[in-house]
Amino acid sequence: MSGARFTCRTEEDFRAAQERDGVSLPASHDLSVLAEPLTVGDTRVTLKNRLTIHPMEGFDSTPDGAPGELTMRRIRRMASGGAGLLWVEATSVVEEGRTSTGQLWIHEENLDAFKRLAEEAHRLSDGAPVILQLTHSGRFSRPDNTPRPVISYHNPVMNEKMDIDPSWPVVTDEYLDALPGKFGAAAKLAKDAGFDGADIKCCHKYLFSELLSAYSRPGRYGGSFENRTRLFLDSIRAAAVHASPEFVIASRFGPVEMIPHPWGFGMARDGSLTPDWDEPDRLYREMYDCGVRLVDMTLGSPYYNPHVNRPYDNGGYEPPEPRLAGVSRLIDAAAHMKKTVPGIALIGTGYSYLRTFAPGVAAGAVGNGLTDAAGFGRMAFAYPDFARDILEKGALDPGKVCLTCSKCTAMMRKIHATGCPIRDREVYLPMLRELFPKE
Ligand SMILES: Cc1cc2nc3c(=O)[nH]c(=O)nc-3n(C[C@H](O)[C@H](O)[C@H](O)COP(=O)(O)O)c2cc1C
Repeated sequence: MSGARFTCRTEEDFRAAQERDGVSLPASHDLSVLAEPLTVGDTRVTLKNRLTIHPMEGFDSTPDGAPGELTMRRIRRMASGGAGLLWVEATSVVEEGRTSTGQLWIHEENLDAFKRLAEEAHRLSDGAPVILQLTHSGRFSRPDNTPRPVISYHNPVMNEKMDIDPSWPVVTDEYLDALPGKFGAAAKLAKDAGFDGADIKCCHKYLFSELLSAYSRPGRYGGSFENRTRLFLDSIRAAAVHASPEFVIASRFGPVEMIPHPWGFGMARDGSLTPDWDEPDRLYREMYDCGVRLVDMTLGSPYYNPHVNRPYDNGGYEPPEPRLAGVSRLIDAAAHMKKTVPGIALIGTGYSYLRTFAPGVAAGAVGNGLTDAAGFGRMAFAYPDFARDILEKGALDPGKVCLTCSKCTAMMRKIHATGCPIRDREVYLPMLRELFPKE
């Protein structure tokens, strides 16, 4: 079953669309809760308000992994837009784990460039916390722009999507053993560069999240829950050595993949598309025990089921469910996580799809304790000052909101710099036209 695209103009339309799609989203006319600051755990890292920017990769670093001109332009636009926290995009900790020569990669030699990024973001945002996402792209690694997948086991559903041959070698335990040290070192670099926290990324089927479903892998990193979560938790511990009141350990965490067991994590053992929260809840508690105090949640894998991760109107396929059901799943999952570990400051997702109705739903979700903050991804590409308009004008401009057309993703899939060719057309429309001349 698919569903209608977003056509709501009035609150009446929005209520009817929810009824049609069988969901009931939180709502509030009083947006004042979104302006409240939030201090993370017992640190001094304080979100200026409850509207945050998700990590959004632009594929525009310099070849050595430093932020490029377009990266800095994006950060400046986002930092100036009034959001309470800026979560900087996927940054590899090792060269072989980059998705392309355009992905950020932090190391000693380019530390000064990351320092400039953090400084500029702090200055323009008037002190909003800036988190750096640390990652190893695993099966999506293309360090020289050709696929060099680092896979932890042969997952047929992902292999098929990516055309990976069953004879491709699986990464060794010895290679994985060295990674926590590298994440720890990268977290220290992030701290030295002036970021307010490091994110140990575990979502979307990149290396750490792929291991969560490595049921069939032999050895120290496969089979049991302890083994499948070992690398992620060891990497958190290695980063947490550098935790301080000014530097939080964070995670972009996807607890449920909506990929049938045994090829996805957090799913019912009967192979259906029903989440089973037992293992995700256990892992989430252990993340807290290891030192995680801030989480930006997500679901699914953008390479397998992008409609789960970012409900859209136009994308690679018609979503197999009403679009608002996808939004509702994301909001419900955040509520579940907030209840499971209240001590982790939680950023929810799913709001960009809602256009001008996002502020009311975000205020309803935060006000009802379903999440601590609402994160925006594609909206921040399209409308980097969305937060200021919500907080100061009480509304979003319908002429500026993200239209969920997936053109940003289409550009990224071509291993090309990306942004919003609709709302930021001066820079990105010519690129889109060059990449897709016939459209
Ligand atoms: C172009 C693009 C780049 C992205 N880059 C990242 C990234 O670097 N790290 C990450 O965790 N998620 C990334 N995401 C996912 C977003 O952070 C976010 O989860 C997703 O877009 C859903 O939020 P939204 O509905 O507000 O857009 C990216 C998504 C898009 C479309």
